[in-house]
Amino acid sequence: MPILPPKALLLAPMVELSHRPLRELIASFGSCDRYYTEMTSASGYLARSPFDRWFMDSEPAPERTVVQLYDSEVDPMAKAAARLVQERRDSGMPLGGIDANFGCSAPHIEKSGGGVSWMKDASRAASLIAALKAAAPGVPISAKLRLGYEESESALVDFCRALADAGADYLVIHPRLKNEKFRRLGRWSHVRAVAEAISIPVVGNGDVRSWERYRSAVDEYGGAGAMIGREAVRRPWFFALLRGKEADPGFEMEARVEETGLRMLSLIRELLPESFHKSRARRFFFYYCDNLSFGHHLRYAIQNSDRLDDIERLFKAYFDEVPAERVRMER
Ligand SMILES: Cc1cc2nc3c(=O)[nH]c(=O)nc-3n(C[C@H](O)[C@H](O)[C@H](O)COP(=O)(O)O)c2cc1C
Repeated sequence: MPILPPKALLLAPMVELSHRPLRELIASFGSCDRYYTEMTSASGYLARSPFDRWFMDSEPAPERTVVQLYDSEVDPMAKAAARLVQERRDSGMPLGGIDANFGCSAPHIEKSGGGVSWMKDASRAASLIAALKAAAPGVPISAKLRLGYEESESALVDFCRALADAGADYLVIHPRLKNEKFRRLGRWSHVRAVAEAISIPVVGNGDVRSWERYRSAVDEYGGAGAMIGREAVRRPWFFALLRGKEADPGFEMEARVEETGLRMLSLIRELLPESFHKSRARRFFFYYCDNLSFGHHLRYAIQNSDRLDDIERLFKAYFDEVPAERVRMER
């Protein structure tokens, strides 16, 4: 497979969301080019944390699923990469790539030296990329980053160039500073600046919620593709819609809103351990309820439900009240 196909579509890594049920659901509409797993602690994996098999589960498309690792030190990251490669070799399961998390700004991760705090020191981050390349020969190595701590295009370009020189195969940039929340739109001009300055593919990420924004991510900002997070949860058919519109701008598709939500509940029940059910269903419906005109009431009720059966009952009851929202046309 190429490192990335042209105008690649990638599913973002999202804790409690980028799991196998979401990938299965997206794939049922026609897949995307790369799926990222949610971030997994390299040290935890080396210590054989019991939940990692769910975090790193790469079905239904392991050849295009990238495992995202985080840690505060080079050594555990490199050892985790080597072990992952060995395990995949032993089981015969392909590995779509390994990604280094340079973007997480959650306080407990950043303070311990992981996530975005790698962006404080370009040469240290580059040595991590070089160590991953050496530990996982032949496996695509990427890094997902933010803009860092202060807005400086030259510092960002230097940082990205150091990663490219160390052997990174491509980069994903979520163009927000360390502390910037979702309220403010990302600063996409920086994606363009990096894409123009370095020779490896650069993918933009953040707020791609429509066909127009996807087009501008690729055409206006020169990205090698777009990574999409929350919108792929709100609309698991979103990648299929973008692909359809690429082939024919007049493309439209039927979105089966009730059926898709119920399918997600079945997939969670079938594919995840019971201790994950409540948190994963709540997290999914937090975004999915945006599809519904009166979704805020349902969202609130679901966030207070402890059992999948109750969530299912609430979700079905919504459509008994508002049957017209079961299916809608997407353009
Ligand atoms: C609930 C949630 C969990 C996230 N977890 C991760 C993660 O594990 N690793 C990571 O690099 N980014 C993580 N992110 C950031 C997303 O990958 C992405 O950069 C961000 O949501 C912006 O993209 P979007 O506007 O398409 O959602 C997370 C975001 C959300 C909303």
